[in-house]
Amino acid sequence: MSILVTGGLGYIGSHTVVELINNNFDVIIVDDLSNSEKFILDNIEEITGKRPIFYPFDLRRKELLTQVFDAHNIEGCINFAASKAVGESMTEPLKYYENNLFSLINVLQEFKERNISNFIFSSSCTVYGQADEMPIDENTPLKEAESSYGKTKQMGEDILKDFSRAYQKKVSLLRYFNPIGAHPTALLGELPAGIPNNLVPYVTQTAAGIREKLSIWGDDYPTEDGTAVRDYIYVVDLAKAHVAALKKLLNSENETVLDIYNLGTGKGSSVLEVVKAFELANNVPVPYQICPRREGDITVAYANADKAEKELGWKSETSLEESLKTTWEWQKYLNDRNN
Ligand SMILES: NC(=O)c1ccc[n+]([C@@H]2O[C@H](COP(=O)([O-])OP(=O)(O)OC[C@H]3O[C@@H](n4cnc5c(N)ncnc54)[C@H](O)[C@@H]3O)[C@@H](O)[C@H]2O)c1
Repeated sequence: MSILVTGGLGYIGSHTVVELINNNFDVIIVDDLSNSEKFILDNIEEITGKRPIFYPFDLRRKELLTQVFDAHNIEGCINFAASKAVGESMTEPLKYYENNLFSLINVLQEFKERNISNFIFSSSCTVYGQADEMPIDENTPLKEAESSYGKTKQMGEDILKDFSRAYQKKVSLLRYFNPIGAHPTALLGELPAGIPNNLVPYVTQTAAGIREKLSIWGDDYPTEDGTAVRDYIYVVDLAKAHVAALKKLLNSENETVLDIYNLGTGKGSSVLEVVKAFELANNVPVPYQICPRREGDITVAYANADKAEKELGWKSETSLEESLKTTWEWQKYLNDRNN
C-alpha cells in the first residue's frame, strides 16, 4: 500500500517514514528540500534497508503532483510539508499562508478528484494558544493563534474538517506538543537552518560550542522555577503515533472520519529542567543566560493524551533523559559530518 509522505525528509517526516517502512508500507516522499537535505534519504535506507521513492519538488507545483498521483496507487497521505518558523511567520506571513495552505490544498484536490481517503495532518498545540487550564485535552477551546504560523495550522484544520464532511473522507488531525530527540542510530534528527528556534537544538548546539550561550527567554513566569513549561515528546514515539493513526483510518468502516488527537507525554518540563536533564544525561555543560521574555511565548502547555492512548493504543514511552541522550548523539554525528 503506497502512502504519500509530504515533507518526508524533514525532522518528524523522516522518523515517520522509517516507522511506516517498518510496518510494511510503501512510501512515496515529496519534499522540496527547503528545510532538509538529501543525505537523509540515504540514512533512511541505511536504517530500514529500503529506499523510498523520492520526488524533489515544491508541492505548490500542482502539475508535478498530478504526475506523482498518475504514477502510483496512493491510498493515503501524511502531510508534514510546511514552513514552521514561528518568528519568521510574523515578518513573512504571506510565505506561510502561501506555502502551508496552497501545498495542502493541492494534495486535497488530488484526493478529491481521485476519490482517495485517509489523510493525516501535522497540527500543533499552538492551536490552543495559552489555554486557561492544564492539562490540555482535545476539547480545550482553541484561542486566536499568536503567530501567522499558528493561524496556518488552525486554517489547515478548518480546511480538513470541511474536506472530510463535504467529500466523506477519513481525516486525522494530530496536534503535536514539543517534539525532541533523534533516531537511536543517530542517523536522523532535527536539522535547524541558522539559529535554532526550538530549545533542544539550541541546547545541543551550545553544548557543542557552536553557540556561545543558550538564551533562556524569561525566568519570571508564574511557574515553579520561573521558566516556561512545555511537554517534550520523543520524536520516535511521535512517529509511531502516525502509524497508529493511519492504521485506524485504514481499518475504519465509516466513510467519514474526523479524528483529533493530542500527542504529548502529559508531563510539563520547564526550560531549566530540560537544561539540567541534558547536562546530567550527557555529562556536558550548557552555559546559559537569562534574557527578557520573548514576544508571543506562552507560559505553560502540556497535554492530556488519554484519547490517543484509548483510541490508538499509543502512548509516549521514552523519558526526557533518554530523548536528550539521542539528541546529543545526533549533534555529534553532525559535527563529524561537517568536519
Ligand atoms: N517540530 C515541531 O516543533 C512541530 C510542532 C508541531 C507541529 N509541527 C509540524 O509538523 C510538520 C513537520 O515538522 P518538522 O519539524 O518535521 O519540520 P521540517 O521543516 O523538518 O520538515 C518539513 C519538511 O517539508 C518540506 N517542505 C516544506 N515546504 C514544502 C513544499 N512546499 N513542498 C515540498 N516540501 C516542502 C521541507 O523541506 C522539510 O523537509 C510541519 O507541518 C510542522 O508545522 C512541527
